[in-house]
Amino acid sequence: MKVAFFSAKPYEEAVFKDAAENGLDTANTQDPISFSYFPHQLTAETALLCQGYDAVCVFVNDELNAKTLAILHEAGVKHIALRCAGFNNVDIATAQELNISVSRVPAYSPETVAEHTLALILTLNRKTHKAYNRVKEGNFELSGLLGFTLHNKTVGVIGTGRIGQAVIRILKGFGCNVLCYDPYPNEQATQDRASYVSLETLFTDSQIVTLHCPLSEQSYHLINASSLALMPKGAMLINTSRGGLIDDKAVIDGLKRGHLGYVGLDVYERESELFFSDHSQDIIQDDIFQRLLTFPNVLVTGHQGFFTQEALREIAAITLDNLRFFAGDTSLNVNNNMVKHIN
Ligand code: NAI
Repeated sequence: MKVAFFSAKPYEEAVFKDAAENGLDTANTQDPISFSYFPHQLTAETALLCQGYDAVCVFVNDELNAKTLAILHEAGVKHIALRCAGFNNVDIATAQELNISVSRVPAYSPETVAEHTLALILTLNRKTHKAYNRVKEGNFELSGLLGFTLHNKTVGVIGTGRIGQAVIRILKGFGCNVLCYDPYPNEQATQDRASYVSLETLFTDSQIVTLHCPLSEQSYHLINASSLALMPKGAMLINTSRGGLIDDKAVIDGLKRGHLGYVGLDVYERESELFFSDHSQDIIQDDIFQRLLTFPNVLVTGHQGFFTQEALREIAAITLDNLRFFAGDTSLNVNNNMVKHIN
């Protein structure tokens, strides 16, 4: 089976090659998997490279819209293996019409993203990024580094799936009160001593709000002028989920008015034009992104929540299982990795 691997980075290639060397790509299938690694994003333009491939392996910012899917279908591609959890970048209805199946990696070390969420909270709060630079320059002045104690603070967790639950467990370890909201409440969250409340109460009562729900029509711009107005003055907003959950202009307005106290982002709505590449020599044209970076109380990381050795190895192993399943190894129990309505 031939797989075109898009948005390939050297660190991923190394992990996938290592998994392949350990035989993970051939077990129980007659048809070994061979990857071609393309550094380009998959778009309607680059989809033309897929002639003769059985499947594509893609990441968060590859564009699998109706136009790209039509070209993939024409080229003979029958499967899309996402090497991430979210699938908001795939037009699922069109994929279904074209009989292209879609798999993803729904759960790889949720603690990985949860720990990055805490890294953002703690860095923003205790300003370790600023302290690091000061101390390097021999400046041991503490003014401007004042933080707050996390213990006893109320944190609102939106989305109590795998990552949300891992965040709750860590926050409880810090002695926080945890409020949570999810249209499908999960017993595990209550066992972990978080309390389900309405979205409105969560916004009103939380000093920190952290997002762990997928991007969908319902959750698009969940953080907007109205929800921000409910949050207490000086509150912290954290997003390690998907950029489209936040209306950036409303966030900038909240920051300018001093209403929002801290913002930590690992994702950004138009990140596909920026993230995962070196733009240090470019003039960045996205004025909203650039404005966000000017605030002293905003911390942005470039979608690295998933980026640990353990998570990369798990992603590779599960993606290979999904591809082997597609190649005919039905002994694998990966049905839950197939995106709803497909296959
Ligand atoms: P999950 O599927 O286990 O949990 C998502 C939860 O969100 C579910 O309980 C669902 O009921 C809930 N939900 C759905 N719509 C909602 C809404 N409108 N409001 C509140 N809750 C809602 O997903 P998991 O593994 O916890 O991942 C969460 C998100 O994290 C993913 O969708 C993905 O966008 C993001 N992610 C980010 C990564 C990063 O590197 N920064 C890496 C992996 C995932």
